[in-house]
Amino acid sequence: MQSFNFKVPTEIVFGRGAENKAAEKLTAYNAHRVFIVYGGGSVVKSGLLGRIEKSLQEAGLFTQSKGGVQPNPRLSWVREAVKEAIAFKADFILAVGGGSVIDSAKATAHGTANPEIDVWSFWNGSVKLEKSLPVGAVLTLSAAGSETSDSAVITNEETGKKAGLNTPFNRPALAFMNPELTYTIPKKQLICGTSDILMHTLERYFTSVKEENTLTDRIAEALMITVIEATRRAIKDQTDYDAMSEIMYAGTISHCGLTELGRCKDFACHKLGHELSGRFDVTHGASLTAVWGSWAHYVYRDDIPRFAKFAERVWGITEGTEEERAKAGIDKTVAYFKEIDMPTNFTELGIGVQGEDVLEALADSCTAGGTKVVANFHPIDKQTAVEIYRLAN
Ligand code: NZQ
Ligand code: ZN
Repeated sequence: MQSFNFKVPTEIVFGRGAENKAAEKLTAYNAHRVFIVYGGGSVVKSGLLGRIEKSLQEAGLFTQSKGGVQPNPRLSWVREAVKEAIAFKADFILAVGGGSVIDSAKATAHGTANPEIDVWSFWNGSVKLEKSLPVGAVLTLSAAGSETSDSAVITNEETGKKAGLNTPFNRPALAFMNPELTYTIPKKQLICGTSDILMHTLERYFTSVKEENTLTDRIAEALMITVIEATRRAIKDQTDYDAMSEIMYAGTISHCGLTELGRCKDFACHKLGHELSGRFDVTHGASLTAVWGSWAHYVYRDDIPRFAKFAERVWGITEGTEEERAKAGIDKTVAYFKEIDMPTNFTELGIGVQGEDVLEALADSCTAGGTKVVANFHPIDKQTAVEIYRLAN
């Protein structure tokens, strides 16, 4: 097991009515002027936003709200929000929504705490983030895990670059997680969300670290089995509280860092997928399943025992040689994505068959013009990225 540091400072309030604790918890957090961030209107329609605003105001807090965050959240929206939050003298940023809203809230917090710096500088790495404002999240969609993660992903629409920033400042102070708030998510978001959750653990299960790490392996395997089962139940009935609870809990555990302890993370498919979302604006979870099978077939020979272990522990595959089991595990995973109606290639993703020039451009952007190698299970240079994209095409 490799050495690790692990600090997740987020206070999680989980269960029915969790959002009703927002006023009390924000007050305890010394919030006075709360800038609320939300998306395209689902929380207006459900009445959730109004309830939150009212409860905060009744507790003596000042609020100002800004909606309009789009999936694959845009830098231009964040820049506007930063201006408004500064003018409002915000001391706390509260997200009410899914991962895009939470990531936009994080970015708004960073920009507001550093008014002299253009917020994108933290994402392109030209300036190191040294301070931010506290962020809270009322989660309405189980998927990205942003409610406790150290990451925030923003798209610079001027360049088409979708980029993540990892920093401890991204860990929210508070997360309010009521599974009932996820009953209204569209089916597509449900399956994209649970696939993203699965991928956050898959991308930590297959890494370059070969040392024994039994507890982390077992946690990861249990999480994957749980998500697969709960997704099948949730597809049948999205108001199944227990299934939606398992999914919500798994979304947090999958991306808070727990399933990488003693190991590291790889995130090859996230890097490849972000290029697809940046260029074609496709939903995040779909961008991942569209490349996972191609990635797995391309790389599994690097560690056949690991893929065979995954096949046995997650899918119960015990027949055949080690390599046959490894391949059967990949096939089962791809078949599962198809079963729940997730795309497993570019055509199913809805972007059609792309020309070599596009595959080159995607790979170029993924590897910073061929200067960077990403991931570690199988290091991905520009040529490798082209080949994986070609398999998915
Ligand atoms: O905008 P509204 O109207 O709220 O509708 C949203 C949006 O259209 C809708 N929705 C959310 N909750 C709902 C609901 N509709 C009805 N009822 C509800 N309760 O769902 C749509 C998608 O929302 P979005 O926030 O984009 O989804 P998700 O949570 O999957 O977030 C995806 C974003 O997170 C990033 C992704 O790249 C993507 O940009 N990620 C962030 C990570 C992080 N910060 O740690 C890690 C992930 O790997 C990921 O990259
Ligand atoms: Zn993800």
